Amino acid sequence: MNSLSRIDGVLHIEQVALPEIARTFGTPCYVYSRATLTAALQAYKEALANNNALVCYAVKANSNLAILSLFSRLGAGFDIVSRGELARVLAAGGDPGKVVFSGVGKSAAELREALSLGILCFNVESEAELDRLEQIAGGRRKPAPIALRVNPDVDPRTHPYISTGLRSNKFGIPIDRARAIYRRAAASPQLAVRGIACHIGSQLLDPEPAAEAAAKVLALVDELASDGIELSHIDLGGGMGIRYLDEQAPSASAYLAPLLAAMAGRRERLLLEPGRSLVGNAGLLLTRVEYLKPGVEKNFAIVDAAMNDLMRPALYDAYHDILPVEAAAHAALPYEIVGPVCESGDFLGHARTLAIAGGDLLAILSAGAYGMTMSSNYNSRPRAAEVLVDGTAMHLVRRRESIADLYAAESSVP
Ligand code: LLP
Repeated sequence: MNSLSRIDGVLHIEQVALPEIARTFGTPCYVYSRATLTAALQAYKEALANNNALVCYAVKANSNLAILSLFSRLGAGFDIVSRGELARVLAAGGDPGKVVFSGVGKSAAELREALSLGILCFNVESEAELDRLEQIAGGRRKPAPIALRVNPDVDPRTHPYISTGLRSNKFGIPIDRARAIYRRAAASPQLAVRGIACHIGSQLLDPEPAAEAAAKVLALVDELASDGIELSHIDLGGGMGIRYLDEQAPSASAYLAPLLAAMAGRRERLLLEPGRSLVGNAGLLLTRVEYLKPGVEKNFAIVDAAMNDLMRPALYDAYHDILPVEAAAHAALPYEIVGPVCESGDFLGHARTLAIAGGDLLAILSAGAYGMTMSSNYNSRPRAAEVLVDGTAMHLVRRRESIADLYAAESSVP
């Protein structure tokens, strides 16, 4: 995370000391850097300069309104997967005309609402969804703008839970069936064929699989043109990976170079749906050590954040770097960093050698993507606060949930 630095031994995000954030807002607390968020989007914009392209930020990575409004003001569009995400985009001032709607299970209500709002495109994932959308668009003045999300059957070489472009995955329409479905869609007065979409997986460190998928997509686009079906855009999805530990994560320009080369000379607009690479390294989870518990086989550092706050380690065995916020003169020991939740899978890091004591603050890095958005209230734990740092300023962009929030939507048996 490039907005992190140590000043007199104390970890700062931009110009704000993390202990100051803990004092003001408590822990656990997600902390984001506005400068890093801006730089990440800027890197895409620079890599895409001189290209007819639109970055549609994948809202699922981090849907806080502050981040959506920042990206919206910087000109981004959005990739959404639910009504909830659509509502967030609108609440943040996002333009529905720059929204693409992905997802395998869009409900009729979701299709209706997005259609009324005039979104840029529905990324349709099945024939059944196309039928439903056609029916809903019937009787309206405007046809529904569609792209087919094709499944190119390319191995993205990432964690199996976040691979989406293999034939065995639930996502997309098998690429060899898409041409016939496009012909059908093009013949429907209720549907306006606008584009094609493809997303093969997440945390991709090598652009090669994405380039392979792009080649398959472009071959299909050319076949469609020979059928008289001209597309206005080509959506190559998200997926660019970031550095969590020692990964050689590509820069946006390196990752996009083969995709831009494939698009060179084409008239269609390029759409991208990056999530993690725009927010992942702009956020950390700030937590406090509740207890140190020396064990027979392992030493445990029990912290006040848990799997309900950051699920990635428990779910994917994902690695997040963990740093002490203040350098201290304690003995450095290997610790299991675990939370208070009653599950043995509730860990945030294994065997981390740290010089810490009870009461110390820890920063769990690279937690800006798929952190807060995947959090839950498991064990009736209120969700963490979120703070956006901007230079020397800190803004509370989501208050910590209260205990009353936990059951505000519930009622007792009458
Ligand atoms: N577009 C579509 C259609 C997607 O399904 C996704 C992510 C993205 C774009 C954004 O991908 P990104 O640029 O963030 O890789 N929870 C997992 C990641 C799940 C990704 C799901 N789809 C994790 O924590 O690693």
